Amino acid sequence: MPEPSRQAQLLSSSVFRRQACDKLGPECRLFRAPGRVNLIGEHTDYNQGLVMPVAINRYTYAGAVPARAGEIHLESREFEDIYTAKLEMLQPEKGWGNYLLGMAAGLQQRGYKLRGTRLYVQSEIPFGAGLSSSAALEISSGLAMLGIAQTWPHQGMDMVWAAHFAEHHFVGALTGIMDQFIATFGRKEHALMLDCRSLEWEPVPLPAECELVICNTGVRHALAASAYNQRRHECQLGVEHFQRRLPEVQSLRDVTWNDFLRWQTDLPDAVMRRCRHIISENRRVEEARRAFQQHDLSRLSELFSASHRSLRDDYEVSCPELDAMVEAAAQAPGFIAGRMTGGGFGGCTVNLVYRAQVSRFIASVSAAYRSQMNHIPEIWAVESADGGGELALVNDQELLIRAAT
Ligand code: GLA
Repeated sequence: MPEPSRQAQLLSSSVFRRQACDKLGPECRLFRAPGRVNLIGEHTDYNQGLVMPVAINRYTYAGAVPARAGEIHLESREFEDIYTAKLEMLQPEKGWGNYLLGMAAGLQQRGYKLRGTRLYVQSEIPFGAGLSSSAALEISSGLAMLGIAQTWPHQGMDMVWAAHFAEHHFVGALTGIMDQFIATFGRKEHALMLDCRSLEWEPVPLPAECELVICNTGVRHALAASAYNQRRHECQLGVEHFQRRLPEVQSLRDVTWNDFLRWQTDLPDAVMRRCRHIISENRRVEEARRAFQQHDLSRLSELFSASHRSLRDDYEVSCPELDAMVEAAAQAPGFIAGRMTGGGFGGCTVNLVYRAQVSRFIASVSAAYRSQMNHIPEIWAVESADGGGELALVNDQELLIRAAT
């Protein structure tokens, strides 16, 4: 994600409506998509594995009006660049516009007929913090383009694959589908456990006494995108290795723990550790689902910690700031479970915290992190949320009138 010229700030949808109407006129329609935290199942999505994200009540908003036929026009509060492109000749450009241009191209490729659209986007999800600001940008603008083209209802999975197309072919990030999926299908008070191979999913209710608390290190590593693609490549090398022994293997998802133990010996060390993370992480997601079902919070705590250690030592996508934040949280009052969340190389940790102790938790983590890293972190208690959709003013209240799915 390119550097925004302004910081994301917390908005209310009515404030955004006012700003979007100032830009686009009173006929402007309003769409949004949420950010997410991933509870467990990190870097497993592009290995056809299991993930367990939650949509959160931090949104990207897209205001939209019809524009000249065949033209798409993009503006944002956070970025200076403005884009105008022809829908029939969409190509990657430089900068943030690629998320939206790629989304338009992806939707058209899936057979959706778009119309000329003018879009104005604004986000309260910090960019590059591992909270899936990119997918929220893609899904909110995709919904807006479909809304203007009057092609609603549509298939939720088409949104997901169109956004995946944007990442791979316009942005150049070889991501999986977790972020786009949760921005589209998210469900309040639930995590979604998604099987990225079969695409089957199920809602996992969040324990009522737990609050989600996000701690932002504020660190963004410049090489995160290339390191991400490198991890993906190393996983592919692992697949080829196991395929030579077990021809039925298509992805690391097909390698059992016993297969791994038996055939890992002559793998290069780094590739062996990448595979060990993915194969063990899938098992942890299954176990976490059971722990949620059985309300076994101490097991959840162990699983989150094991996931963090595996990401730190085997997958090597953590960093000293994330490790310090995880350690600070583990000592804080009210702590249940915590780990880094998202792609890594900076960004945020996710924590399950007893609701009654959230303020004490925040104060304690903030002080401990500050004394160790000499930086005051941003820490937010967030709510789980539904996936994206269109908002409308009903009796002076912004309501989700049409959900993405
Ligand atoms: C990023 C990608 C996702 C996923 C996570 C790591 O958020 O967009 O597809 O791979 O990293 O779990």
